This record gives sequence, structure tokens and C-alpha cells, in this order.
Amino acid sequence: MNDFFDGFWGYYIATVVLGGIIWCLWLLFSQRKWLVKRTPGVVEDTGHVWDGDLRELNNPVPRWWTYMYVLMCIFGLGYLVLYPGLGAYQGSLGYTSALEVKEDQTKQNEEVKPVYARFASMDIPAIAADPEARVIGQRLFLNNCAQCHGSDARGAVSFPNLAQGDSMYGRTPEAIQTSIAKGRNGVMPPMSATIDAKTAGEIAQYVRSMSGLAHDQIRVIPGKRAYLNNCVACHGVDGKGNKALGAPNLTDDVWLYGSSEATIVHTILNGRNNRMPAQEHVLTPEQIRLLTAWVWGLSGGKDVTASAAMSSDSAK
Ligand code: HEC
Ligand code: HEC
Repeated sequence: MNDFFDGFWGYYIATVVLGGIIWCLWLLFSQRKWLVKRTPGVVEDTGHVWDGDLRELNNPVPRWWTYMYVLMCIFGLGYLVLYPGLGAYQGSLGYTSALEVKEDQTKQNEEVKPVYARFASMDIPAIAADPEARVIGQRLFLNNCAQCHGSDARGAVSFPNLAQGDSMYGRTPEAIQTSIAKGRNGVMPPMSATIDAKTAGEIAQYVRSMSGLAHDQIRVIPGKRAYLNNCVACHGVDGKGNKALGAPNLTDDVWLYGSSEATIVHTILNGRNNRMPAQEHVLTPEQIRLLTAWVWGLSGGKDVTASAAMSSDSAK
């Protein structure tokens, strides 16, 4: 109920819920004259007749039905005492479905702990080369990452391809682990206030030329000038990007959004705001370590820096 800004909606819901039950009971009570015993064999009718001979009978409600109706109302009230349902009131059992999921997860994580124990003393390249770790890594990926990055990790528009050498934030184990644990938010500001559509088209031609794609040689000249004025702070003079900012390399013909002039112009004029959700609340540190190794191994595992032999402590 913490999405309510004040108490009003809590009371509102409680009133609707209790009002519903009271209304049901009132309805039953107000119709009680139908409950009285009738003379057997005599059937009353309401006096309504249709099509000449269709009569509406007025039979009493069966007793079993009445009892069931009352029992249902009592059940409902009992439920509302035990479980959340009355606005902000949490129920006397303290039950929440989120808590139930959390308990299940904790229990399951305890159960699989021994499986991960073996990898605690291994560094990332060793885990990436371990066949069992690779199977676990791939399963974790299919369950937690494939919905965005694709089951082959090759991504889609706006979801990076993890199975190739280029990367926005870097392919070192640390960079991959940070991407997974903390999430990422790549922001390029919109520039339509300072750059008009014609200039944006020229810049797009220059960007295409940097990746060796077909381009208009005449428009590239003003395009390069405008690029140097507007883009180097993030993408660099050489266009190779900036991993600290997550500004992509524009020279490698690897595209998050696409290489057409229209797509690049759209990026320049409207900016981009792309988010990967942090996984550290969903996955255990051990799982994140195995995923880090798996993703690192995907792109050939070439980007080993001096610190690639990350100790298991830094994953905790
Ligand atoms: C809800 C969609 C979503 C899910 C789920 C998701 N990602 Fe991502 N991921 C993204 C997006 C979007 C980006 C790019 C963020 C940006 O542009 O700054 C990204 C970026 C990354 C990067 C950095 C890529 C680079 O070029 O440096 C890595 C590594 C990564 N994700 C791995 C994973 C792994 C492993 C998982 C599963 C635990 C995962 N992601 C789950 C959407 C997702
Ligand atoms: C403030 C930093 C910043 C500036 C300035 C900036 N960019 Fe970007 N740009 C980024 C970031 C960050 C991304 C990645 C967005 C994402 O993660 O989705 C990006 C993405 C892009 C892309 C998409 C690449 C792809 O793979 O699809 C293109 C193209 C691009 N920028 C071109 C430009 C051009 C041209 C300029 C100058 C007019 C420019 N950027 C200025 C930060 C910047």
C-alpha cells in the first residue's frame, strides 16, 4: 500500500470492500419474507404473465442457499482480518506475496549454494573455461537476460549485442560485472535546439564514413566540422567513444540503433535514454560472477586486463 500518497485511498478501498459485504447481507435480510414456510403444494405467483401462459412463480429461496450465502460473508470477513484486503490494513498474519517470493528465493539460493562453492576460488578466465560453469552461466542468461539481449546474446535494436568484441562500457570482467550488478543508463542529450535537420544529416554522413559505410563525400565535409563542434566531448575526436560515459564507438560498424542516415539523425536530434535494470537485487553475487564469466567468454574473452583475475571477494 506504499503507493498511496495519503490515507484517503486506503479508507476508500476499505469502505468499498466492507460496503459490498454489508450490502449483500442487507439484500438477503430485506428479501427475508421469501424465506417464510409456504403451504406445501401451493405455488404463489407474482401475477406477471407473458405470451398468454408464461407465469412468473414466487418460490422461496432454498434454505441451504441462504446458509451458504451467510457463510460466504463470514468467510469474507475472516479473510479480511487475516490477509491484506482492507485498504492500508496489512492483515493479522502479516502476509504479502512479495515476502512469499523472497522466502522461496532465499530457500532456493541456500539449496544451490554448494553448486557455486567450487567457483569461489577460481578467477574469471578459469570460470569462463569451465564446462559446468558455462552450462550454469548460459541457463542463468536464458532465464534472466535473454528477454532483452536475445537467447543468442546478439541483442536487438537498443539492446546491445554481447557476443562481439565491441562494447559501450567495456569487456573487462569488472565492466561486465558492474553492468550486470548495478545496471546501466546510457543517456545522449537531444540536440535539436542547437543542430538543425540539414546539419544533422551531414553529421550522419560523416558518422557513416567513420565506419567505412557508403557516404556522400560532399556532405561529409561540413558534417565533420559539426561533429568536431558537438560530439567529441563524449564520442571522442577519433569517434572511438568513451567507456566511462557509455558513449559508443562510432567507427566499428557495430550499431545499437542502426546505421541509416535517418536513424543517426533521429539519435542526434532526439537523443537516447537507454536503461538496463540492476540485477544485484535479483541475483546472488555467485550468480553474477558466473554470468560475468559467461558473458566475458562470449566475446572471445580477449579483453583481459591486469585485474581480470578478479578475486572472489570483489564479487561480493
Ligand atoms: C530489461 C532489459 C534488460 C535485461 C533483463 C538485461 N539487460 Fe543488459 N542491457 C540492457 C540495455 C538496454 C543495455 C544498454 C544500456 C545502455 O545503453 O546504457 C544493457 C547493457 C548490458 C551490458 C553492457 C553492454 C556494453 O555494451 O557494454 C551488459 C554486459 C549486459 N547488459 C549484460 C546483461 C546480463 C548478463 C543480463 C542478465 C543478468 C542483462 N544484461 C539483463 C537491457 C537489459
Ligand atoms: C553527452 C554525451 C554525448 C554527446 C555530446 C553525444 N553523444 Fe552520441 N551517444 C552518447 C551515449 C551515452 C550514447 C549511447 C546511448 C545508449 O546507451 O543508448 C550515444 C549514442 C549515439 C549513437 C548511437 C550509436 C549506435 O550504435 O546506434 C550515435 C549515432 C551517436 N551517439 C552520435 C552522436 C553524434 C553525431 C553526436 C554529436 C552531434 C553525439 N552523438 C553527441 C553520448 C553522447
